[in-house]
Amino acid sequence: MKVIHTENYEQLSRQAANIIGAQIISKPNCVLGLATGSTPIGAYKELIARYENGDLDFSEVTSVNLDEYCGLTPDNDQSYRYFMNTNLFDHVNINKDKTNVPSGIAEDPEAECERYDRLIEELGGIDLQLLGIGHNGHIGFNEPDDKYTKATHIVELGKSTIEANSRFFASYDDVPKSAITMGMKSIMNAKKVLLVASGKDKQEILKKALYGPITPNVPASILQLHPDLTVIECQ
Ligand code: F6R
Repeated sequence: MKVIHTENYEQLSRQAANIIGAQIISKPNCVLGLATGSTPIGAYKELIARYENGDLDFSEVTSVNLDEYCGLTPDNDQSYRYFMNTNLFDHVNINKDKTNVPSGIAEDPEAECERYDRLIEELGGIDLQLLGIGHNGHIGFNEPDDKYTKATHIVELGKSTIEANSRFFASYDDVPKSAITMGMKSIMNAKKVLLVASGKDKQEILKKALYGPITPNVPASILQLHPDLTVIECQ
């Protein structure tokens, strides 16, 4: 595990973009596992700037996102598909057909979970998985539990997650109460994992996740077992 302490959010974002950019340069047809949330936004801005400068080419990149809310259509401005389009995909030369976000509106959610895992397998797995961390230690929407779930699955969101995410919605009640998330197998099988955490409020859970006991009650703690984990943090 490599932990990079940065001075501020701008530095964190540049360092994260360095690692993602290096991945794209070293393997132009790589599979990037991507995350939403507020922490990666600065890194996505950096990647866009590097694309605009002519330093990065996304034309052969494939992406698979971690998660999506159940019940939100891709054009809903709170959906994670919409987030990815507006914060990254619309601004770089990635082929949208090669960008994948689980569907939150599939008629058969279980079949959608299976399709997503099959897709990741057919792509040959994830080269670099970008992760944020929730205040309760979640990664993707893998919430604290008494067991880890390997496969992509539907999850009921915990109260603290709904509260944290309600900042993006009109009210707590508007936040979807379930989501579809990649499971631990695809995340742990990624060749590299990059975890970004910004702010004093993330320090306690980050410490628990990186140095505490490995337990599904702190889902991110499993990352201690990953052979190529980089963590970038700022307070
Ligand atoms: C987002 C995701 C979540 C976030 C986490 C942290 O796709 O899977 O696990 O990474 O909730 O969110 P922020 O960055 O908003 O603190």
